[in-house]
Amino acid sequence: MKGILLAGGSGTRLYPVTKIINKHLLPIYDKPMIYYPMTTLMFMGIKDILIISSPKDIDHFSALFGSGEKLGLRIEYAVQEAPRGIAEALIIGENFVGDDSVALILGDNIFYGHDLPVILKSAVEENEGATVFGYYVKDPERFGIVEFDKDYNVLSIEEKPSKPKSNIAVVGLYIYDRGASEKARNITPSDRGELEITSVNQLYLKEGRLKVKILGRGFAWFDAGTHEAFIESSTFVRAIEDRQAFKIGCVEEVAYRMGYITLEQLDNLAEELRKSTYGEYLLRVVKEEEGRF
Ligand code: G1P
Repeated sequence: MKGILLAGGSGTRLYPVTKIINKHLLPIYDKPMIYYPMTTLMFMGIKDILIISSPKDIDHFSALFGSGEKLGLRIEYAVQEAPRGIAEALIIGENFVGDDSVALILGDNIFYGHDLPVILKSAVEENEGATVFGYYVKDPERFGIVEFDKDYNVLSIEEKPSKPKSNIAVVGLYIYDRGASEKARNITPSDRGELEITSVNQLYLKEGRLKVKILGRGFAWFDAGTHEAFIESSTFVRAIEDRQAFKIGCVEEVAYRMGYITLEQLDNLAEELRKSTYGEYLLRVVKEEEGRF
């Protein structure tokens, strides 16, 4: 399976903060926002990742991650010329994905929960068409919303409905079989001028091949696209990291735990960062792991 991480957009909802810097590079507590969706893809066992961003920002991402080799990944980069919608990422990434299946994640979506890696891995293994994830929200007008019957069969899925049929939002992580790019090419832009990912999901639903997995009360999900969500998610990450003494979204640690890099490689990465508390944490992980052998 391939991964596409969409870190585009013009960021106007966060102006003036994002006038110069792409929001996905800004910190959510102690690390750049993009580390969180990056680790979510890594937890799915994905190593081949395409980062898509705007022409003005793409070089910053390649400066941050390079070829991905240091993390045991293969990272490629592509440009979205204008913010023409999430589904366009599937068209831009068509050659990259080839005949493989793909997980598409939005760069501002932060996931946290017990057993998340297990749930994600089983979703990947069981996927037959499209698998999306539902999460209860208070403000359903802001999201893609899914409607169920009493047996939890999906009846409809609508983008930012003015009269939402439920409070279950479709979060920004989508698993697709190899047909997704073609579907994205066959949809038309919405009233806001975007190729909506919801339109792609509607095509899968029509074919009876859309599965929705609910992320229940044991999960936290943030769409960090507003000033409030920035501070909320930062506070959340800080509280968890403080209480549990483990980091969320730590790309180097996840690379090690997933078996993508060796302990020696992790140690080298930690050395480069040793002056920050983030680096100190990595050095602690190395020390603890050394103690295990
Ligand atoms: C997008 C999708 C929406 C989804 C949301 C999740 O909204 O269009 O269906 O629920 O991401 O973060 P946008 O961020 O474009 O407002």
